[in-house]
Amino acid sequence: MTENGRRIDTLEMRGIVKRFPGVLAVDHLDFDVQAGEIHALLGENGAGKSTLMKMLYGLYQPDEGSILINGRETRIRSPQDAIAQGVGMVHQHFMLVPSLTVTENTALGIPSKWQLDLKSIARGLDELSEKYNLKVNPNLPIWQLSVGEQQRVEILRALYKGAALLILDEPTAVLTPQEVDDLFRILHRMTDDGRSIIFISHKLHEVLSISQRITVLRAGRRVDTIPTTAATKPLLAEMMVGRPVVFEYARRATQVSSERLRLDRVSALSNRGELGLKEVSLTLHGGEITGVAGVSGNGQSELAQVIAGLRAIKSGTITLDDTDVTGKSPRQRHEAGISYIPEERMLDGAIKEFTVAENYILQDHARPPFNRGGLLNLRAIREACERAVKDYEIKTPTTDTPIKSLSGGNIQKLILARELSRSPRLLIAAQPTRGVDVGATEYIHRRLLEERANGTAILLISEDLDEIFALSDRIAVMYEGRIVGVLPRESVTLRQVGQMMAGAAMDAV
Ligand SMILES: Nc1ncnc2c1ncn2[C@@H]1O[C@H](COP(=O)(O)OP(=O)(O)OP(=O)(O)O)[C@@H](O)[C@H]1O
Ligand SMILES: [Mg+2]
Repeated sequence: MTENGRRIDTLEMRGIVKRFPGVLAVDHLDFDVQAGEIHALLGENGAGKSTLMKMLYGLYQPDEGSILINGRETRIRSPQDAIAQGVGMVHQHFMLVPSLTVTENTALGIPSKWQLDLKSIARGLDELSEKYNLKVNPNLPIWQLSVGEQQRVEILRALYKGAALLILDEPTAVLTPQEVDDLFRILHRMTDDGRSIIFISHKLHEVLSISQRITVLRAGRRVDTIPTTAATKPLLAEMMVGRPVVFEYARRATQVSSERLRLDRVSALSNRGELGLKEVSLTLHGGEITGVAGVSGNGQSELAQVIAGLRAIKSGTITLDDTDVTGKSPRQRHEAGISYIPEERMLDGAIKEFTVAENYILQDHARPPFNRGGLLNLRAIREACERAVKDYEIKTPTTDTPIKSLSGGNIQKLILARELSRSPRLLIAAQPTRGVDVGATEYIHRRLLEERANGTAILLISEDLDEIFALSDRIAVMYEGRIVGVLPRESVTLRQVGQMMAGAAMDAV
């Protein structure tokens, strides 16, 4: 039973259909959740997971089918309606207002008679955060919080509004491993109270460790619902993708070329105005993948940005192929052969109102073959873009569709396709598989290894240590703005890298 007495013993979705122009997003789908259960929802990018959940939360109306709560048919007309029925949702992309405090954000969307009583909301939040061990200060504005804290705010907000069923749409995509452990503890506490949780993730090991049942979707249909005890990683991957998926790769020896990029004692400020990079020196070679491991916030983003030219440096030099590029603009560096797959792909990598094709040529629209003598070559653009859509299995009705109607993972794939299509001299790949499904992850990993074989120098920044170990030739560990060690992959274990990420000295591990 939750604080305000609401309880959802069973929730059923029956025969649900949802169409968008040119897309059957959800196709006669059945799904159910029981009290106290964590039910995982799995599927490829564009399979229909978010769409299904948005119908449960009242953001979309199903074209067909019904929703039953405790056996009674219910219409959920809006998020307010959903909240009134005890359904809460934390979205794939957070919806908090950065300039408002935690309390003020919680007050948003609460019926107006309560809205003014911020004190009582703050008190309520304090009690809940105590009870669930969700540490957040209700008086801080959102922009001062880390992503993990923002997510705790989203959960607190849903709990405050009395969620008996909580939908979490890819809650762990942006969390550090430590934060994931904390989140899982919170989720268990919630189910102990008889609440239920729908958990969406592309990370199969998480799904296996947290859920009791798993439903797999493919192309809007339910493949199956199985108890987690009967599931394995390869089985789930095959259910999602429809074919076996490879998780380990043969990395053939490549010809490592001479020095491609050199950073010499580079220092730079972080967004918070502190030294985010401290005298970092690093050399990258063609034909080699250097993995950067570290807990998020230890200078990895700043490192990527100073190389791409998107963050000014305070001191030091950056040299690409014997040319000093320290003072060069991002565009000049791009033209010199530096490709950048940014971590914040929605903010830095794409324009939501533009179409798939427009986003695909965003940086190359002034160059052949896309441009001849000042005129766009529309045929060349369409052909190149259609090839990318096919190779990366990007789910979109056409290349003229605005990307805002694509699923989250499919936007990611488009940006990756664009940056990898140029055969760069140097590729910076920041969290390249965050938010993409297992099939696409496999494809992206293969493409990175192909680029390596082609002689590209690759800097792979990832919080996923399995990914770092699967792909890298060398591993650089970052801690508090410094590179604390660069080691050949063969000579370290996952555990040692983990210890260095937590601040242990290289010779102590
Ligand atoms: N508002 C919309 N307008 C048009 N098409 C949409 C809209 N929302 C989703 N779609 C389409 O519906 C399909 C399902 O999308 P959905 O966002 O539910 O996928 P998903 O399973 O959540 O994928 P991901 O893992 O990438 O988040 C996709 O083909 C997507 O392009
Ligand atoms: Mg989604």
